[in-house]
Amino acid sequence: MLFAAVGHPVCVYDVEPKQILAALEFIEAELKRHEKEGTLRGTLNAAQQRALISSSSDLKSCVSGAIHVQECVPEDLELKKRLFEQLDAVAPPGCVLASSTSCLLPSTFSEKLKNRTHVIVAHPYLNVDGMVDYMRRHGAGLERVSATMGPTPAYTAPPPSLEQINKQLQEMTPLGEMGARRAWRDKMLSALARLKRDMETE
Ligand SMILES: NC(=O)c1ccc[n+]([C@@H]2O[C@H](COP(=O)([O-])OP(=O)(O)OC[C@H]3O[C@@H](n4cnc5c(N)ncnc54)[C@H](O)[C@@H]3O)[C@@H](O)[C@H]2O)c1
Repeated sequence: MLFAAVGHPVCVYDVEPKQILAALEFIEAELKRHEKEGTLRGTLNAAQQRALISSSSDLKSCVSGAIHVQECVPEDLELKKRLFEQLDAVAPPGCVLASSTSCLLPSTFSEKLKNRTHVIVAHPYLNVDGMVDYMRRHGAGLERVSATMGPTPAYTAPPPSLEQINKQLQEMTPLGEMGARRAWRDKMLSALARLKRDMETE
């Protein structure tokens, strides 16, 4: 919906056709609800945004011409590995391959891909059903993945990569500009708090 809101065509793919139907029905209902409540994003109306969203039962045609792929398959390393290999073969060069993984290290399923520099972790989820439901659905997966993570890393004797990470961070925000960056962050947080207060009083 975020992408359709700004005019991008979107294609939904799942191995279960009924999941695709359910997703499209949910999206349509949400777009209509947002339109009715005046909270629809962008300048296109709900019907125009819905028309941008299609589906496919073929992965290759689904990602043809894509600039961003959002993977949302279950938290299973072998499954993610297989899917990312398929995506690597069919997604256009330069396309961002974003995983929804909760706790798998992205390197474990991206290391051998030719487009591995375009793999990121991006969470599209809002955990609206609460922590109890979250643990019921994901607890076993979290335990399974945690068991593969090995001993606690050493932080007092950091690895040589620390220098490199520090250099990259300094390039993005030099230490001398941290004050200005904090001020910007505080200004944005205040604006967000104002927006929240205004929405609550509506
Ligand atoms: N649900 C959440 O609150 C939440 C939050 C953060 C991250 N995540 C992560 O998002 C991912 C998905 O979680 P979920 O709760 O949406 O799972 P889910 O089981 O509800 O949905 C997974 C979907 O993937 C489909 N699928 C299975 N194999 C496939 C394949 N090979 N190709 C295409 N589709 C396939 C299934 O049919 C199903 O529709 C996991 O990595 C999870 O850790 C979930």
